[in-house]
Amino acid sequence: MRVYLTRELPGDLLDRIRGVADLRMWDGDEPVPRDVLLAEVAGADALCSMLTDTIDAELLDRAPDLRLISQMSVGIDNIDVAACQARGIRVGHTPDVLTDTVADHAFGLMLAAAHRFAEGWQEVEEGRWGSWDPWHMLGVDVHHTTLGIVGMGRVGSAVARRAAGFDMTIVYTSPRASGASGSRLPFAELLRSSDHVVITAPLNEQTRGMFDQEAFASMKSSATLVNVARGPLVDHDALFRALADGQIFAAALDVTDPEPLPATHPLAGLRNCLIVPHTGSATERTRHAMAVRAVDNLVAWVEGREMPSEVHGGA
Ligand code: DGY
Repeated sequence: MRVYLTRELPGDLLDRIRGVADLRMWDGDEPVPRDVLLAEVAGADALCSMLTDTIDAELLDRAPDLRLISQMSVGIDNIDVAACQARGIRVGHTPDVLTDTVADHAFGLMLAAAHRFAEGWQEVEEGRWGSWDPWHMLGVDVHHTTLGIVGMGRVGSAVARRAAGFDMTIVYTSPRASGASGSRLPFAELLRSSDHVVITAPLNEQTRGMFDQEAFASMKSSATLVNVARGPLVDHDALFRALADGQIFAAALDVTDPEPLPATHPLAGLRNCLIVPHTGSATERTRHAMAVRAVDNLVAWVEGREMPSEVHGGA
């Protein structure tokens, strides 16, 4: 069994893979270059991938023996799952283990956007902190407001649980009715009624670009937007205009389009847009748990057991 791994993992996990397979791996600090990946998959039975690797028909055509992709993330929009399934290639991913960490992150971003943390810190850092002013740097409240969650899956439900402690009213969109507390609304109605909107929906053809000019025009001017899902759900030009023109109050983005977002991007220059570099699941414990789950999936597949987290149809 030949496994190609696109990013170094902790030594104990590499040993587990070596215990069941021949392992080759990319050990650079940046994502594996495309040409290297294409050459390596040609001789691999299984690929252990990251969300930065594009796994499309071109790659699959170069990988005649590939039978498994085990990815170290819950999101799998970088993988053409239909093309994998058509070729009988199974796909594993890492849900559940990151849910609470990403929900904490989303909640933190919402508080930061509403209370203007980044702007406040900038003012202190740049020596612009003047005397206390009753009307200076006013934000918007989080408690006792309405939170709109776009995509009430695992992370969305965990965000809703946190919001209960802030006495928030929950509204949400979801393709399916959810067991979560709150009211399921059409997207347009959610935008109109929410004081804060958190995006946790997966990226797919239905969600790509759903936050466009029209969406921002229907939001409250006091609203904040948090994205911890994937950048392309949001039209970044439309977001820039909405923030610059005061159509919405503030945004906090864990994910952008493209990633990394160039420092020269117009959004990066806005005082009311906080951007962090896709670190939603980046705690020691959670990233380790994600790596363990990716290796658990791989080893289970090699040993002919059921994978703990297999993708069936879509994530
Ligand atoms: C995921 O797992 O999809 C997350 O985006 C990683 O933080």
